[in-house]
Amino acid sequence: MRDVASVGISVIKMEKVLLLLAGVSVLYALDNGLGRTPPMGWNSWERFRCNVDCDNDPENCIGEKLYMQMADRMAADGYKDAGYEYVNVDDCWMAKERGPDGKLQADPKRFPSGMKALGDYIHSKGLKFGIYEDFGTQTCGGFPGSKFFMETDAQTFADWGVDLLKLDGCYSNIEDMTSGYPIMEFFLNKTGRPILYSCSWPAYFVAYKKIPDYKAIAKSCNIWRNYDDIQDSWDSVTEIVNYYAKNKGNFFEVAGPGSFNDPDMLIIGNFGLSRDQQRAQMAMWAIMAAPLLMSADLRKMDPYSKSILLNKDVIAINQDPMGQPGSIILDMNQIQIWFRPVMPKGSAAFAVLYTGSYGTPEKLSLKCETLGMVGPGGYNVTEVFDGRYVGMFKSADNINITVNPSGVFLGKAVYLGN
Ligand code: GLA
Repeated sequence: MRDVASVGISVIKMEKVLLLLAGVSVLYALDNGLGRTPPMGWNSWERFRCNVDCDNDPENCIGEKLYMQMADRMAADGYKDAGYEYVNVDDCWMAKERGPDGKLQADPKRFPSGMKALGDYIHSKGLKFGIYEDFGTQTCGGFPGSKFFMETDAQTFADWGVDLLKLDGCYSNIEDMTSGYPIMEFFLNKTGRPILYSCSWPAYFVAYKKIPDYKAIAKSCNIWRNYDDIQDSWDSVTEIVNYYAKNKGNFFEVAGPGSFNDPDMLIIGNFGLSRDQQRAQMAMWAIMAAPLLMSADLRKMDPYSKSILLNKDVIAINQDPMGQPGSIILDMNQIQIWFRPVMPKGSAAFAVLYTGSYGTPEKLSLKCETLGMVGPGGYNVTEVFDGRYVGMFKSADNINITVNPSGVFLGKAVYLGN
């Protein structure tokens, strides 16, 4: 057994734990009343990409049928009841040209009923309708962008009953984003329809090696992409987690109700992750207070993946009403410890992530302080995925934890000192 207790409190960023416990107030949130907890839903991009070949692949192409079927599955298979609500159309939904009136139009062959009808269908299932556009002249997939049409597009989306807009940043000048993204926020607000605003603005700054102004971003956007697109692999998940661990630009500090970092979609239920890796992605997205946007074929989910996506206790951590994201407090030899304050007051969720692949589970003995359990009153600790009670611990006690290779131990420590 590896004894990490001896590493002790000195290596952890103690100030960070205390600040997190104190509940640093968030002054920057976009005040449209939306996204008080991280939004949950489904997005087509990671799994279905820009497949426009409805002639040869009618089941999987970007068209109204796909979104209607996903809405059906979300409503019937327990996803909606678990909190997943947005059905998000991503890129490649449009016709190649705007209409004669300058308005965006859906591809008529793939969306024969039109976007308003699709929105109505999604709403009829008790779900919300998300759509994708781009800040520049074209979307990343080469369809008409919003540049010079922002007011028209905001109104078109409101007329269609859109509830979420993801505004990407391909084919644009990043210098324009600082003024331009807030202008779209203004036009969205002007429609009078509450539309959750998802911005890719910081991800483009990061791609150009510039530090984004996260305070400004959090003022205008409900969620924002900080980094590269997720792909269907463990390497991609760990690359993203490692990026967030660095917190470059202090983006975790501006997050809170109404404003959340978006490390991109959940790839649980696809081809690239083992069972442990799927748990690890879900755990880390819960700890980071990330939007839970599934991108998998809900018509073909295997029961294990589905059970992870529907795990109520993990979702409860993600949706904690304080909306305070966690952060990394220890990073050592492929073991990362992340800590997130959650309700009831003084309690915490913690993730022990083992990113390595040294084929046998790691057995760790960790001093509770090292996991962020610093309160004098003691904690009841539960392993979250299986709901297994681990025991009652004081901060000076050691806790024994086993973590599988490329896996996670997700714990909830309920504070007993209130
Ligand atoms: C960018 C975004 C992705 C997706 C694609 C669509 O790469 O980051 O999430 O929307 O564009 O083309």
